[in-house]
Amino acid sequence: MMHANPDVTMRATETGDNHAMKDPERDSAGAAMVLQGLHKSYGAQTVLNGIDLTVSKGETLVVLGRSGTGKSVLLKLIIGLQKPDSGSIRVHGEEITSANMEAVNKIRKTMGFLFQHAALYDSLSVEENVAFPLRRHTTMSAAQRGDRVQELLAGVGMERELKKMPSDISGGMQKRVGLARAMALEPGILLLDEPTAGLDPITSREIDELILKLQEERDVASIVVTHDLLSAKLIADRIVLLHQGNAVMEGTFDELARSDDKFVAEFFKRDS
Ligand SMILES: Nc1ncnc2c1ncn2[C@@H]1O[C@H](COP(=O)(O)OP(=O)(O)OP(=O)(O)O)[C@@H](O)[C@H]1O
Ligand SMILES: [Mg+2]
Repeated sequence: MMHANPDVTMRATETGDNHAMKDPERDSAGAAMVLQGLHKSYGAQTVLNGIDLTVSKGETLVVLGRSGTGKSVLLKLIIGLQKPDSGSIRVHGEEITSANMEAVNKIRKTMGFLFQHAALYDSLSVEENVAFPLRRHTTMSAAQRGDRVQELLAGVGMERELKKMPSDISGGMQKRVGLARAMALEPGILLLDEPTAGLDPITSREIDELILKLQEERDVASIVVTHDLLSAKLIADRIVLLHQGNAVMEGTFDELARSDDKFVAEFFKRDS
């Protein structure tokens, strides 16, 4: 039994235990990320209790769940910032839970990551923050870097704030700069922790458009944690709802929105 709470474990579309990981087509080499049986506890607190997820190339998976259910922890495990207690994480077919630092760093370069609180470098300007991964991981000239930074910042509507320091821009603007930085190396995978939190509705929709564009034009596979149901509706190919350490429901937005399950219905009502 994979789930501690079988009573609330279900799939929106199908009955039975038809999880993505068990679908041989999805679990093929084409999958961008395959997570199996992930467990993570802190002391006596079990945060993740056997999570299975597969994200294909070009697919956007949205993760919903109440505060403290382990959404951010899940993303941190995938980029290898923390290790799960047990379970497997394969990124482009490569197991990262047992990989050495060098291998993890190599895989990490293929992943763009936006932390929940943007996590910009305080002592670097907006421009320098976005240029940082380019400086570190590419052989671009200063001029090329400048052009690329300009382009990335324009993509998030921040091209006029180049010289400002993170402390001198708003939280929402920091988030947008973080997003530009996450995309600097043209990653095949994007892990975004609440990209639209704290943003006005117009900017939020622009961020959604950007995520959709990356998916369409570059086949980017994304996991997006959000509390923004409109954003989920717009960008998600599939949604997974985390609750008490388990993925309790998986399906499209419409499938979840239509669900009679009390918890799911309340979740959708409460946040919408
Ligand atoms: N390094 C850590 N040490 C101890 N406990 C931790 C650590 N990281 C996370 N936790 C705990 O794990 C749980 C899940 O945290 P997480 O940040 O993943 O929640 P979340 O689902 O992202 O919530 P929110 O929607 O508020 O961002 C919380 O109870 C948190 O206190
Ligand atoms: Mg979080």
